[in-house]
Amino acid sequence: MQWPDSLTRLFNITYPVIQAPMLGITTPAMVAEISNNGGLGSLPVGGQPPEKTAALIREVKALTSKPFAVNLFTYEMPPRPHAATFDRMQEFLQFLYGANRLAAPPVDMDSIRIYSYKEQVPVLLAEGIKAVSYTFGMPDAESMAQLKSAGCILTGTATSVAEAAAVAAAGADAVVMQGIEAGGHRGSFLPGELPLVGMQALVRQAVNRTGIPVIAAGGIGDGKGIAAALMLGAAGVQLGSVFLRSPESAAGKAHKEHIAAATDTATRLTRVFTGRWARGIPNLFMEEIEASGLMLNQYPIQDALTQPMRQVARELDNTDFTVMWAGQSAHMAPALPAAVIFRELVTATEKAWSYQ
Ligand SMILES: Cc1cc2nc3c(=O)[nH]c(=O)nc-3n(C[C@H](O)[C@H](O)[C@H](O)COP(=O)(O)O)c2cc1C
Repeated sequence: MQWPDSLTRLFNITYPVIQAPMLGITTPAMVAEISNNGGLGSLPVGGQPPEKTAALIREVKALTSKPFAVNLFTYEMPPRPHAATFDRMQEFLQFLYGANRLAAPPVDMDSIRIYSYKEQVPVLLAEGIKAVSYTFGMPDAESMAQLKSAGCILTGTATSVAEAAAVAAAGADAVVMQGIEAGGHRGSFLPGELPLVGMQALVRQAVNRTGIPVIAAGGIGDGKGIAAALMLGAAGVQLGSVFLRSPESAAGKAHKEHIAAATDTATRLTRVFTGRWARGIPNLFMEEIEASGLMLNQYPIQDALTQPMRQVARELDNTDFTVMWAGQSAHMAPALPAAVIFRELVTATEKAWSYQ
């Protein structure tokens, strides 16, 4: 099989198969395993402090000498939190934690520290990162120029054709078209209603409109899915959920069991954890907050407010309160090492392609 070569040339990789950055799930080991096997591993550092960003990058570098991407959350900083919304939510959360014996401390609104991607860009430049992907918007012109002049390949995220056109016009080298099937946060950034477009419709139309390589994401769970995306004109694919059950995934045991038991209808969109729309497996927290009818804080304030709960729940592997982001094909994720999953995806794609 002749794989499309625009991305393999851009990133200097063997297969145009990208392991999706998954904040809270993707470990440096996962990134390295994919890159060492000829794909592009992606290290998620969205919203992390600069020192942690540097430490994670160095961890990946210690495990691979191959190219890998670093993923940023590129949104403009929000205005100050709305105090009444924050306090009402905090009060309800403390009640909910108490009722469920979860020892999660309250959050002091004034001491929330939000890290902008602008604080991380100097770290990426200092570390000589050559591939940067981003979601929730686009880097500002200055950051784009700095990254480009350092020879960085830039990949934006879009959830509609209009967003793809904006990503291309701002100077990205490639665009991830994130279908509504995808697990995790929606990368949507244009004002207006949330786009709910499926991967197939997005990819076909973006290929015709953008003029830059299109990467298909959302609901791809095996080689046939990859081959289908390539047939649609995608230059490559980005897969996240398929790696959720690997030993290199930071998901806990109970979380992985939920993924294994998931069906095509087992996930849905919610804003309750972070204030941004994201797809995951419903749990007690999602249901209680939605039923409360309370106003949510804007992203990333809601994210900061639920952070202690998620940390405590994670340590206890208490899936009533952890986030379980997952896509519509998450049930296809095998409990195998990331490298094995990756190699099987490549082999199965080549086999599926040869049936044409
Ligand atoms: C657990 C999880 C966490 C995610 N975190 C990020 C992230 O930090 N940055 C990002 O650009 N995309 C993130 N995504 C979205 C992926 O980049 C990608 O769009 C998605 O995984 C593709 O759909 P799939 O999960 O069906 O393969 C995440 C997805 C999942 C499942």
